Amino acid sequence: MNKVLEKNLKLNNGLTIPQIGLGTYKLTDENETLNSIKAALESGYRHIDTATVYNNHKVVARALKESNVKREEVFITSKIWNSHHSYLLAKQAIDEILEELELDYIDLLLIHWPTENRLECWKALEEAVEQGKVKSIGVSNFQAHHLKELLEICKIKPVINQFELHPALQNLEVVNMCKQNDILVESWGTMIRGKCFEIDQIKQLAKKYKKSEAQICLRWAFQLDYVIIPKSSKPSRVIENIQIEDFELTNEDMQLLSTIEEYRDGPDPDNFDF
Ligand SMILES: NC(=O)c1ccc[n+]([C@@H]2O[C@H](COP(=O)([O-])OP(=O)(O)OC[C@H]3O[C@@H](n4cnc5c(N)ncnc54)[C@H](OP(=O)(O)O)[C@@H]3O)[C@@H](O)[C@H]2O)c1
Repeated sequence: MNKVLEKNLKLNNGLTIPQIGLGTYKLTDENETLNSIKAALESGYRHIDTATVYNNHKVVARALKESNVKREEVFITSKIWNSHHSYLLAKQAIDEILEELELDYIDLLLIHWPTENRLECWKALEEAVEQGKVKSIGVSNFQAHHLKELLEICKIKPVINQFELHPALQNLEVVNMCKQNDILVESWGTMIRGKCFEIDQIKQLAKKYKKSEAQICLRWAFQLDYVIIPKSSKPSRVIENIQIEDFELTNEDMQLLSTIEEYRDGPDPDNFDF
């Protein structure tokens, strides 16, 4: 078994999460999605990241059923989409997610973006934990001020914050806020959504370590103890993305990655309109 796949990180509620999972954003073609998830499960991934808005819950359910992996051995994350953050719609969304994924419980459920109804949504998430529908709850794309506001009113603390985080967007303010409050950091877009191949400092390290630019970015995040969820529709890349256990970036090379000019690929969490 690949060692990086065996690494679990502790959540602030005592449960654990595998540090590496498979991302599934833009996996909508049924066969492509099935092949990617099955390749992941066969090579030892035990963590899948999905969301209502990715429109692939039913295929995730099918892939899980068709694989030989037991339910309790796989960690499933989903997210409540922005249109369903009012208290009542969030409760409805949670039941729909359970039904589409054909699960009795979700391992981790996140608020997808910090909409104006985010605190109502949190209340629905807390109740879902009390009802046993969800094991752990967290947030996504929250800035430090969104976290501060939530920490002041919550009954259950978020276990994780999933946000855009890669060598070109190191987001230290949010990372530090999470660390100070025992909230795990989860990176999306770790490979800069494919743009890692165009950045000189990453290309330089790929050459030095004889690894791909994608693997340099994934190793950077892995060494910083961030949860990572690389996505690929191609089984060969699903496997390539876990082959990061046989090298370690030096402190100097980690520093080199801090010199990359800042670049945000996705929307700004303080200024989005969807
Ligand atoms: N919470 C949020 O708001 C949010 C936002 C975005 C993403 N996410 C989650 O985070 C996951 C990862 O983020 P992401 O999918 O946006 O970006 P990513 O994982 O950084 O990059 C995915 C892109 O890189 C390509 N790729 C994957 N492995 C590669 C490799 N070894 N070599 C070359 N290219 C490779 C993929 O293409 P192919 O498929 O063609 O291989 C795809 O175009 C998502 O799938 C989703 O689960 C969450």
